Amino acid sequence: MDRIITNEIKDEDIVDESIRPQSLNEYVGQNEVKENIRVFIEAAKMRNEPLDHVLLYGPPGLGKTTLAHIIANELGTNLRTSSGPAIEKSGDLAAVLSNLEPGDVLFIDEIHRMPKFIEEILYPAMEDFELDIVVGSEGSSRSIKIDLPPFTLVGATTRAGDISSPLRDRFGIVSKLNYYSEEELMGIIKRTSKVLDMEITDDAALELAKRSRKTPRIANRLFKRVRDFAAVIGDGIIDIDITNEALTRLKVDKYGLDQIDIEYLTTLINKFNGGPVGVETIASAIGEEVSTLEDVVEPYLMQEGFIKRTQRGRVATDKAYEHLGCGENQLF
Ligand SMILES: Nc1ncnc2c1ncn2[C@@H]1O[C@H](COP(=O)(O)OP(=O)(O)OP(=O)(O)O)[C@@H](O)[C@H]1O
Ligand SMILES: [Mg+2]
Repeated sequence: MDRIITNEIKDEDIVDESIRPQSLNEYVGQNEVKENIRVFIEAAKMRNEPLDHVLLYGPPGLGKTTLAHIIANELGTNLRTSSGPAIEKSGDLAAVLSNLEPGDVLFIDEIHRMPKFIEEILYPAMEDFELDIVVGSEGSSRSIKIDLPPFTLVGATTRAGDISSPLRDRFGIVSKLNYYSEEELMGIIKRTSKVLDMEITDDAALELAKRSRKTPRIANRLFKRVRDFAAVIGDGIIDIDITNEALTRLKVDKYGLDQIDIEYLTTLINKFNGGPVGVETIASAIGEEVSTLEDVVEPYLMQEGFIKRTQRGRVATDKAYEHLGCGENQLF
């Protein structure tokens, strides 16, 4: 299903590089993470050493990739980008590493999806800036060491639990990105409104913030859709009426829940008596991938207290029953 509030990356997001903040000062929220990184960057610059390796984790759309770009900008170095699934062979990683220039930031997105044997090549590269590779064919193979320039690895993942502890331990800086407050999201929406030159009233910005699943990517995406409504059926300014009208049409409810969330909750409550039930069972009942539910749908439902994760499976909370308009007693 195509979701307006998906927090996966869509083509239009790539077009909208213009609204991505470029410096720490423009990066809204995540204050603790931001201030720590600011100090570490300053210290690394003073000592003329590369910044320690950084692991960023947290749900999709909270600003991991953005922060990786900002780190390279603030260090005044290049950002090289790769991703866990793109590195299939040891040669792929060797090629990326041996093309680095001193001080570069190497960003590996979805680092939890990197094969285990590749991880092992990464260890000496991270610790000693050394690449150990095996060359030649079986029988006549030998291992060679190549010196690498000092660099900073920035790894990003939505699944910190899937990162092996030896890999995790090699990151000097491990930062978790958290969901954003309404105030912070309003800041992001106001900033986007300036960059895109489309005025929004405060109450409209607050309403958008409330329905953005505490996620900047979704706030920006909703902003752009509401902007279309304002341009076509409004008078060019995004006000609260246009916002409510647009969000109703987009089927985004007052908590930011969309059709998949509602289907998830209805299924959990009506088909499985509110649980406990395994995520695999819910996924097949509503025809979605388990990974979509686990990475995108459930983190927010859990954060907002609509579901709980227990040893025996997912359970709907009273809040879920109330939100769907079915007091618990009505069901039995
Ligand atoms: N702190 C922030 N301040 C302002 N805008 C932000 C912030 N964080 C994210 N954004 C906006 O949200 C968009 C999505 O962020 P980003 O791509 O960095 O998320 P991500 O954590 O890498 O997601 P994924 O896990 O899907 O890769 C960015 O293009 C940016 O415009
Ligand atoms: Mg990203």
